[in-house]
Amino acid sequence: MDFKNRDVISIKDFSKEEINYILNYTKKMVPYAKGEKHTDILREKILSSLFFEPSTRTRLSFESAMNRLGGRVIGFADPSATSQKKGESLADTIRMADSYADAIVIRHPQEGAARLSTEFAESPVLNAGDGAGQHPTQCLLDLFTIITERKKIKGNKIVLLGDLKYGRTVHSLAYALSLLGAELTFVSPESLKMPKEVINECKEFGVEPSSISNLERAVKDADVLYVTRIQKERFPDAEEYNRVVGMYKVDIDLLKHAKEDLIIMHPLPRVVEIDPEVDKTPYALYFKQAFNGVPVRMALLSLILGGKKL
Ligand code: NCD
Repeated sequence: MDFKNRDVISIKDFSKEEINYILNYTKKMVPYAKGEKHTDILREKILSSLFFEPSTRTRLSFESAMNRLGGRVIGFADPSATSQKKGESLADTIRMADSYADAIVIRHPQEGAARLSTEFAESPVLNAGDGAGQHPTQCLLDLFTIITERKKIKGNKIVLLGDLKYGRTVHSLAYALSLLGAELTFVSPESLKMPKEVINECKEFGVEPSSISNLERAVKDADVLYVTRIQKERFPDAEEYNRVVGMYKVDIDLLKHAKEDLIIMHPLPRVVEIDPEVDKTPYALYFKQAFNGVPVRMALLSLILGGKKL
């Protein structure tokens, strides 16, 4: 299996075997991600981190991953402090980042921006979220979290809840979970349903996702409840946002209907969709999930940048 210098734009860029390989390698990275073991397999390597949209976990865990591997990071967290402000094109910004580093991580509000960036870069490009498009590294950490808790993906009943229209994490995840044989249920406000193209991709793997509006019913026999934020920044109309925000809420009351070993995940940030009371319950896995971003991104960076195998 060869990952060296590969772009990571969509989870669809990986085969089932490649996904399993990355997830397996991630296990080895955990003690390094926790700082219990040390390595410098990416010494001398530089990662360019270009965030045109806000981020906490994705940016910091990419930085942590690169640092834990002995590499370095340059970049920006706010494009208003760059020459974008003077009118520079994305193409020119990418050309520069490419000449200063060995790999590029990019988050951008426009769908397709990461794919477009590969046209202007020799170095591998990793998509850290492109508008409502894809978020492949989040997807890998979501899969890693489910496998760690549940041993496997196949046969698990997984509910995807919230903004399924604009949420890029669920677009990547629905595809990957179908590829790996999970059972899917979608719960969302009527106006924020999973796009048809994504549903059709699931069907190609023989998965028939069910869509229901009653969250209690969906939660009853779920193994995993994956909650998402309503993506306010992608709404063309504030009134429509106000109508749907708060429509679904995960709280202690709802969990009375859940199986004892249900796990609740969320890519974070959460706003109102999970009551903080839930944090104290054994169902809450979202903070552990966020940590998993470090070992997953360590595994990917080391494979792509050709570090010595650990
Ligand atoms: C998500 C994103 O940016 O798509 N966050 C993340 O990367 N963990 C989810 C969100 O913003 O709602």
